[in-house]
Amino acid sequence: MKLTKAIFPVAGLGTRFLPATKANPKEMMPIVDKPLIQYAVEEAIAAGIRELIFVTSSSKRAIEDHFDSNFELEASLIERGKKDLLEIVRGILPEGVSCAYVRQKSPQGLGHAVLCAKQLIMNEPFAVLLADDLIDGGQQSCLQQMVSVFEKTQSSVIAVQKIPPAETKKYGVVDVANAEEKIATLRGIIEKPDPEKAPSNLGVVGRYILTPHIFSLLEQTSQGSGGEIQLTDAIASLLKYETVSALQFSGKRYDCGSKLGYLEATIAYALKHPELAEEFKRSLQDFVV
Ligand code: G1P
Repeated sequence: MKLTKAIFPVAGLGTRFLPATKANPKEMMPIVDKPLIQYAVEEAIAAGIRELIFVTSSSKRAIEDHFDSNFELEASLIERGKKDLLEIVRGILPEGVSCAYVRQKSPQGLGHAVLCAKQLIMNEPFAVLLADDLIDGGQQSCLQQMVSVFEKTQSSVIAVQKIPPAETKKYGVVDVANAEEKIATLRGIIEKPDPEKAPSNLGVVGRYILTPHIFSLLEQTSQGSGGEIQLTDAIASLLKYETVSALQFSGKRYDCGSKLGYLEATIAYALKHPELAEEFKRSLQDFVV
């Protein structure tokens, strides 16, 4: 099985960033000069994905426009001889990569969003990337590390990381035989448990590689945590039929669904930005007390 398709669930309302997200999708918020969704798309493409499937809602048109060509802008950049900018704009979606959009009519949870893409995935394995989770994998992106595991196991892989025990209510939490192993086999998984009910301190971050068997299980999944159809619950059912691996990936994850994580990511990426790094480092010193 070869992995060529990825789902980007982008239908969420982004209420944690209101009023910024009233008319603009949260996935279009920039980290320095690129929107969050573009980082996730670049990660997917670098890992071999060629078909991008966005699960959107009515207020997310800007995402479609971002990955489409903009004739007026390109014509103006050509006229003004702005070759570098033209390259940046044209390079957003490389040759051979296609986009498809499917609407999630009402916000019924991550599991429901993934199920909305069933017809486009057909009977193939696929990745799911949540743009809120920005991951700097260093040498190898998080999804690339997961693809290496998938190529060996040919079964589902989810990305996990150690989380503070008090924060289990923010994550899917996995039960594995040996939490110290980089690649562990899942025994169970629970969505947003209370700390005393959490099976480990390993929380799921927004990267999944799943086999298509998940769709029939999602169809049978009833409302779970928060009254939503949870992907986590369908993965728990998948364990009865298939092996699922949990990968403790190498790299740093920024929770850009929270204001603090978003600000940390902005600082970290600005400090790595070729045009800004030096000057920004100097100006940051003015803010350190
Ligand atoms: C979703 C998943 C959760 C996972 C998290 C990672 O939750 O349901 O299992 O740990 O993403 O970011 P959300 O943050 O959308 O509530």
